Amino acid sequence: MGILIKNGEIITASDRYLGDIYCDDGKIQATGPGLDKHTAQDTVIDASGQFVFPGGVDAHVHTELPFMGSESADDFETGTAGGVAGGTTSIIDFVIPARNQNLLDGLDVWNEKAKKAVSDYAFHMAVTWFGDQTREEMRTCVLEKGIPSFKTFMAYKGAIGIDDTELFSVMQTARGLGALVTVHAEHGEAVVALQKLFVGQGKVAPKYHAQSRPAPVEGEATGRAIMLARLTGEPIYIVHLTCREALDAVTEARRRGQVVMAETCPQYLLLDDSVYDKPDFEGAAYVMSPPIRPSGHQDVLWAGIAAGLIQTVATDHCPFNQQGQKTMGKDDFTKIPNGAAGIENRLGLLYTYGVLENRIDIHRFVDIFATQPAKIFGLYPRKGSIVPGADADLVVFDPAAGSTISAKTHHHRCDRNIFEGFQVKGLPSHVIVNGRIQYKNGKLDVERGAGRFLPRRLSTPFPTPVKG
Ligand code: URP
Ligand code: ZN
Ligand code: ZN
Repeated sequence: MGILIKNGEIITASDRYLGDIYCDDGKIQATGPGLDKHTAQDTVIDASGQFVFPGGVDAHVHTELPFMGSESADDFETGTAGGVAGGTTSIIDFVIPARNQNLLDGLDVWNEKAKKAVSDYAFHMAVTWFGDQTREEMRTCVLEKGIPSFKTFMAYKGAIGIDDTELFSVMQTARGLGALVTVHAEHGEAVVALQKLFVGQGKVAPKYHAQSRPAPVEGEATGRAIMLARLTGEPIYIVHLTCREALDAVTEARRRGQVVMAETCPQYLLLDDSVYDKPDFEGAAYVMSPPIRPSGHQDVLWAGIAAGLIQTVATDHCPFNQQGQKTMGKDDFTKIPNGAAGIENRLGLLYTYGVLENRIDIHRFVDIFATQPAKIFGLYPRKGSIVPGADADLVVFDPAAGSTISAKTHHHRCDRNIFEGFQVKGLPSHVIVNGRIQYKNGKLDVERGAGRFLPRRLSTPFPTPVKG
């Protein structure tokens, strides 16, 4: 049974036109004016007065992540369902093996968890240590498992963080495999030193989380990661970039011709560090790494998106409940699990505060929300596009609708929403995932386990190392 979307304003990263879309067998079969139903049973969606976007691709999601003595609260079913409610129809989650664990054993664990997903998913593989066999395991990930992107953490020392020697080895290996290294860039040792300093002085409230990871800590690590990538000739993707210092490092490298890509997240565009002053431990809800920055950085990031220096906006969705999880750090901010929910809110926030406030145009919005993450991570044009043959992942978006974000109504499995009270203008009326309507006028109709693993291959350019 097919779906015919009639008279929508179809908007992609490059085009805008009035037309119809016919989907069947999970794929977009045709686009253009004057399309008709193929069978009497086909469903027709009247999209007059509405936009049609490609389904969103969130390239940075952590569901069921064991982290800091707890586990992120959404599982693959509820996390992907929250995504669908917010127009995100594919995610890239992270396999994060423990130090000393074989990467492929880690993959087995994540493959099991992900069987519950309601929409399609892929994995980045985190390299949390570099042993004798890691090269071979990375090779298997790329050549046999459809995982051509690796995640590295310069922070979280003593847990999943790696040192510069290990990072260099990961980059060198990835370079040989045509794979992409993504980096969480914070100076791990400096963070630990500042944490010890504050805790020693009895400064244990959530706001000291932010003060122990100030912007230069991220700026320095971003520059160092870029330098290591330059030495190895490896393209690099900086995840959750938050500040002017880090963007300066990216800008300088790109000017030199180095292949450096960057992602930011709605929380870094829309919140400032006054959130950490909230009374009654409410600042803990905003404890994430890197932290929310002082005001000023947000405009720099918006400008970076508009200028094409930042290519994607993901969420780093990693929910922890205030009650029972964040409270683990009631007397010591270093024990507050780092992370917050956001997968459902990315579309509404970017459209409302990006497009409607003239910070980015509507094509740039589609690009950062769907098309660029698909292109960079090897999912395009299957995902992130509206062309015949692509997966039928589509958002019919009513620009006249609106809502107020709240933990009382969101689909995240989390008792807080860091965007509580934010108004959003424009809402999906229908979200189609692999040719099936999974969200309609406020109601989810998802199918546990319908999501499929997306094996990937990259088309990232691999230049010769930049000299000089
Ligand atoms: O605070 C965060 N960002 N938690 C999730 C893990 C990570 O660093 O991305
Ligand atoms: Zn991170
Ligand atoms: Zn993350």
